[in-house]
Amino acid sequence: MKKDFLSIRDLSIYEFSQLLDRAAEVKKHSRKYRRALEHRILAMIFQKPSLRTRMTFEAGMLQLGGEAIYLAPSDIQMGSREGAYDIGKNLERWVDGIMLRTFGHQIAVDLAASTKIPVINALTDLSHPCQAMADFQTLREHKGSLANLKLAYVGDGNNVCHSLMLAAARGGTKMAVGTPAGYEPNPEMVQAAREDGKDTGFALTLTNSAEEAASGADAVYTDVWASMGQEAEKEKRARIFAPYQVNARLMSHAKNGALFMHCLPAHRGDEVTDEVIDAPGSVVYDQAENRLHAQKAILLALMGKKD
Ligand code: CP
Ligand code: NVA
Repeated sequence: MKKDFLSIRDLSIYEFSQLLDRAAEVKKHSRKYRRALEHRILAMIFQKPSLRTRMTFEAGMLQLGGEAIYLAPSDIQMGSREGAYDIGKNLERWVDGIMLRTFGHQIAVDLAASTKIPVINALTDLSHPCQAMADFQTLREHKGSLANLKLAYVGDGNNVCHSLMLAAARGGTKMAVGTPAGYEPNPEMVQAAREDGKDTGFALTLTNSAEEAASGADAVYTDVWASMGQEAEKEKRARIFAPYQVNARLMSHAKNGALFMHCLPAHRGDEVTDEVIDAPGSVVYDQAENRLHAQKAILLALMGKKD
């Protein structure tokens, strides 16, 4: 049976930690894997822009001995020129896996259901699981383990926040999410994280206070206030989210030596100040680097030879 990676929920607690181990191994011994996906091709469908995701999937496939084909939003015009079902039925005749960045999460679910090749979610409006894998790889590198840590997420309860909560549930990492009222994470995602993390040491606090969320945190994470597709709300959101800016004052509520994290791209001066993102505790470029290694581990798990 083929396996997809549409959500962190596709991973058991054991598989989550195994995948992080594999990502660390691939990072350390990358040459060992240079033929692992020889003759395999990944189709990359983008309905939104990208720097990190495109670069790391494409470079990752090349480093594993395979190839990647980039399909820009204007190329296949998913949904208007052709629907997910027919796209999946065509692609499986030519390539070995599909990576999709799109809007509605259901589009990714429909694509995966339509095709016999693995589908990887490279961001939907609901979740960004590849990002969370790279982020937890980064946290583990800097803090040694994931248990007994407090991760604060401050800002919009969005796709990135959802995948972080599901990853924290598996890693046994405590999480506090500080958002404005009305911008809390999706209640179904909150419930899913609490269910999945009930025996791991995970705990989740939701608050409307950025300071309460950041208090005593080992790492403070933020993301853009207006995600891709929400451009029309940019100004309104900038006013509502202003008290949630991650600046030196907010970081002073976290532990001494706390990390600063961001999935990037960052809007410097909005959700984070230069003094924070350029400080020694900022690990944003490590997170970006680990997109490469974490996704290589995902590609190997889904498209590699079965042991
Ligand atoms: N963090 C992330 O997914 O970056 P891109 O949008 O540039 O791919
Ligand atoms: N929440 C952001 C993440 C970008 C990587 C967005 O969806 O645009």
